[in-house]
Amino acid sequence: MKHEKVEKNIGLLAILVVVAISFGGLAEITPLLFQKETTEPIEGLRPYTALEMEGRDIYIREGCSVCHSQMIRPFRSETERYGHYSVAGEHVWEHPFLWGSKRTGPDLARVGQRYSDDWHRAHLIDPRSVVPESNMPGFPWLETTELDGKLTAKKLSTFRDYFNVPYSDEDIAGAEAAVAGKTEMDALIAYLQSLGHALK
Ligand code: HEC
Repeated sequence: MKHEKVEKNIGLLAILVVVAISFGGLAEITPLLFQKETTEPIEGLRPYTALEMEGRDIYIREGCSVCHSQMIRPFRSETERYGHYSVAGEHVWEHPFLWGSKRTGPDLARVGQRYSDDWHRAHLIDPRSVVPESNMPGFPWLETTELDGKLTAKKLSTFRDYFNVPYSDEDIAGAEAAVAGKTEMDALIAYLQSLGHALK
């Protein structure tokens, strides 16, 4: 009759359901925390340069991930179009992840080096100048806004200290100078060109 009690008491049932489901979750998630494949960088992965790091922040600020994912799933329809599917070791230094889930535009996980810098510049200023049927908005102000490098060094050192991203003291000391005189557009393009660099 114990079972009847559980079935008739919705509060108790809810608690026991959560307990039962948590076991399934734990069984799936715990091994991932210890597998090297998911916790260690793949060979050839390098941290973002100071300029790329600033570009990534602009990508976040402008909401590019609202329309673009950075996660190629292991399906033929995706790998034929975008390249090798995404692997965990490419993303171990990403905080936060920009995988996204909405694809109004194409996935960008391997867009790096697919187009020239000039193409990106023209496209970001006015997408329809290079892709006539595009419904992507333009971001012309990036071209005329100079980067503010005051926090660049701090960003790199935060990633080193809290997320173990291997930046050297020189990287951090030179960060502000590395972005001096660059526009937000330069930074965003540098970031886009770095995407997917470690695994082609
Ligand atoms: C409202 C949705 C939307 C937003 C926001 C958006 N895009 Fe797009 N993007 C698109 C669409 C649709 C396309 C496909 C047509 C084209 O190439 O313009 C595209 C294409 C692209 C491409 C070319 C990809 C390829 O493989 O051909 C790049 C690069 C890109 N976007 C970068 C960005 C960046 C960087 C931002 C943020 C500054 C951004 N997009 C914001 C919708 C969007």
